[in-house]
Amino acid sequence: MDPCVGPGIFVNKLIEFGIDSYQIFTYDINASIKGEIEKFGVSFKAQDTLIALYPDSYNEFDFIVGNPPYLNKASAYVRKNKVKLRKIYGKINAHETYAMFIVNSIWRLKEGGKLGFITSDSFLTLSTHKNLRRFILNNCVINEILLAPKNLFSSQNVSTSAAIIILTKCSGQKNKKIREKNIMRIIPRVNSEEDYRDPKIVNETEQKKYNSLPFNIFFIGVEEEIIELFENAPKLDNYLKGYIGMHTHNNRKYIAAIEETELAEVFKRRNKRISDPNRKYKIILKKDLESIRWKPYLKRGGAEQYYRPIIEALDWDEESKKNYDIPVNVPFEQEGIIISGVSSRLAARYMPKGCYWDSNKAIGFIIRDKTITTPYMLGLLNSSLYNYLAKGIINNTNSIQITGIQALPIISTDNETKIIVEKLVNEIIRNKEYNPNYDYTDHQKKIDDLIFDLYSNRFNFPLSLKKKLDKEFSIYRY
Ligand SMILES: C[S@@+](CC[C@H](N)C(=O)[O-])C[C@H]1O[C@@H](n2cnc3c(N)ncnc32)[C@H](O)[C@@H]1O
Repeated sequence: MDPCVGPGIFVNKLIEFGIDSYQIFTYDINASIKGEIEKFGVSFKAQDTLIALYPDSYNEFDFIVGNPPYLNKASAYVRKNKVKLRKIYGKINAHETYAMFIVNSIWRLKEGGKLGFITSDSFLTLSTHKNLRRFILNNCVINEILLAPKNLFSSQNVSTSAAIIILTKCSGQKNKKIREKNIMRIIPRVNSEEDYRDPKIVNETEQKKYNSLPFNIFFIGVEEEIIELFENAPKLDNYLKGYIGMHTHNNRKYIAAIEETELAEVFKRRNKRISDPNRKYKIILKKDLESIRWKPYLKRGGAEQYYRPIIEALDWDEESKKNYDIPVNVPFEQEGIIISGVSSRLAARYMPKGCYWDSNKAIGFIIRDKTITTPYMLGLLNSSLYNYLAKGIINNTNSIQITGIQALPIISTDNETKIIVEKLVNEIIRNKEYNPNYDYTDHQKKIDDLIFDLYSNRFNFPLSLKKKLDKEFSIYRY
């Protein structure tokens, strides 16, 4: 069965390989391809496969193949069918059609039946797809996951990178052991389609390992020692707690730039073009921050680490405050750490006492366990190892969530490492206070080495991992 047959590329191949056409069932939402497909002598029905689910659609097919459409929640199709799709797939994922096709086809498979799809590879790692991954783990044996060549579909203007996934339906509590003990073939990205049959690297991994990383990430090519670290070390949330910040609903009205910052210069230039005094951008003096009328405000993401001058202030007038959404139970004004929620790398900065933060691109964190100091935590989070854990493994997009940070592993440090890291971090901060462009590469190299050695002593990291961190996850990688 092909649930979204399109021009029939798979049908053509199946017939070429000797499958009887009367055994092949095809569907597509696009009725106009009926004539083309029926020429193959196979059954065709025009239907919206995602929505046309009836009691007898379940457990019906022995084999399902497909290249499901990749439409996201902004697409006309998903928007139009939102209510219906949410009703059917809402518990798993009602945002991306390819994810819904995976679920839909697993439902349609007989027990023991096999599914082979080529889809976007983003469901393997993105935290938004964790329920899909759990659904697969609870209902299937994963036979193989192969990362298809980069730019496979670029001739069709499709930029998402693809994965091929082969599953066997094996559901229910009674089959849990079989699923967990299953050995999966995991194949890192191949160079060309020629490599599909006989790929150069095939990693064999027990399926239960897909419970080891946070959010059941379907990892590919992550070192065994790193998996062990995630399995055995306590989570960062025992030591550091993140909080979503506040909303002013009108930043132009309530947020001012602080005099002598770049932002103040930008505001001055803009204000020259604005005649209405009520619409002008606000600029305050540095000393105004000492009054009760203004609070330092953090609302920016980006890759900057350790320290960044505060450039914005929040209007703390009683009347203004009434307009804000300020979450309760968030320990604003405490000393802590700001982590960029949107950034190409993991970036943590010192947050002095007294600050408020926004709910969007900057996330405030407070240290829970006083045995860990702020400078040590900054060194740890800004190290190449943690950049790899957070951005290379947990979330390889530009955004990172509180749950992702808190799910990172952490081990205890020895006194010597702690003291040296703290000293290096304090020096970076002091130098950046004088010169925001201060080049701290040498300090960073030392921090990266110290953190790597500390973790390597416990988990026997291979030297190849250090090379990978230096080359792909350090600030001096270029
Ligand atoms: C990426 S194409 C795959 C076609 C074919 N398998 C191939 O490889 O050439 C996706 C097909 O899905 C169909 N389609 C999109 N949404 C659908 C839906 N909800 N139900 C059934 N078919 C759908 C489209 O009409 C299109 O033909």
